[in-house]
Amino acid sequence: MAVLIVIIGVVLGVCLLSTALLRWNEMKYNKKGLPPGTMGWPLFGETTDFLKQGPSFMKNQRARYGSVFKSHILGCPTIVSMDPELNRYILMSESKGILPGYPQSMLDILGKSNIAAVHGPAHKNMRGALLSLVSPSIIKHQILPKIDEFMTSHLSNWTDQIIDIQQKTKEMALLSSLKQISGIESSSLSKEFMPEFCKLVLGTLSLPINLPNTNYHRGLQARKNIVRMLGELIDERRNSKETHEEDMLSLLMSGVDNRYKLSDEEIIDQIITILYSGYETVSTTSMMAVKYLHDHPKVLQELRKEHLGIRERKLAGDPLDWEDYKSMKFTRAVIFETSRLATIVNGVLRKTTKEMELNGFVIPEGWRIYVYTREINYDPCLYPDPYTFNPWRWLVRCVLLVLI
Ligand code: HEM
Repeated sequence: MAVLIVIIGVVLGVCLLSTALLRWNEMKYNKKGLPPGTMGWPLFGETTDFLKQGPSFMKNQRARYGSVFKSHILGCPTIVSMDPELNRYILMSESKGILPGYPQSMLDILGKSNIAAVHGPAHKNMRGALLSLVSPSIIKHQILPKIDEFMTSHLSNWTDQIIDIQQKTKEMALLSSLKQISGIESSSLSKEFMPEFCKLVLGTLSLPINLPNTNYHRGLQARKNIVRMLGELIDERRNSKETHEEDMLSLLMSGVDNRYKLSDEEIIDQIITILYSGYETVSTTSMMAVKYLHDHPKVLQELRKEHLGIRERKLAGDPLDWEDYKSMKFTRAVIFETSRLATIVNGVLRKTTKEMELNGFVIPEGWRIYVYTREINYDPCLYPDPYTFNPWRWLVRCVLLVLI
């Protein structure tokens, strides 16, 4: 009996404490003018529900509070906007003080010079440096041939094997980017690099609490190791007498034709940015493309027809060239449709640099705004029968655009 009373007492105590903490946190953010919503637990907010439930979390909150609501995610008080008009306004309001606002964990781990962390002239400079790495001529003469060569070898031994597509597409995204960045050294670098990079990625999506055994702590350690590896690579190249084939690292080290002089630290942060931006995005899109093609044999048949047609015009073993790539109209439609239906990026994060009014709500300085754009991809007015995988819809669109 006594044990039962103790258990009931403990349970009641925990319930009372939890309710008090939740209530205290709600009161803390209960400022006049804020949109409705819940703030969750002190410090942790609603991060766990947000990460675990994904789009369902957003749908549930919208059903309760409307298209603009408040929450507390990834360590920050946040306004979520699912209102297309307001989203457009926010994205065009950099000059009014709404700046990119990625979580602290992401900024700490990707480095202080990464493009998401810098604003104004510094952002312009980093953007210029990155864009020069993907000029039309570089895409034609370097990026396309290197991807073609990489994919031929990456796919070479898949026959008669059970393949983990998620794993393979992740390897593909990281290794093909490494090849673009440091062509010659990429294969020797990749073994030590890959496990560190995976820890870095996990760390960017965690609460910024630096305790041993947390993803954030492991992410910071991984960043240190990656910075060391890339630093050594830069030093080796600088001390080497040999001339290198042109790759992204050599371009960045040469100041991209002397137009963008970056320090070694800035070069390393740009490289981490390129690898990070093209990792989850490209691997998940490619994985979903494989799934959709498997589920839709007619699409696969049409895609094969396009590719076999291109192959027929070439000698065996000839690489793909720019004209071949440009002629892949149906392939492009498959990529667009995969990107639409799979929606890899649900939205973008911004932050307020001063108190401001949005849609009649007063948003305090320093709050994050999650511009949630996912729903646009499933709007039946824009995409009839939106949940069907139908690449042909993009061919009709292109014809219409040409006619207009
Ligand atoms: C399916 C593939 C991809 C998707 C869906 C995607 C999506 C996005 C989105 C939504 C943004 C805007 C972020 C914001 O405004 O806050 C962005 C920015 C950016 N992305 Fe991607 N991305 C993809 C692939 C890549 C790849 C492969 C790279 C690099 C190799 C890359 C590099 C960047 C960079 C550098 C920015 C920042 C641009 C700036 O701030 O001026 N992305 N991407």
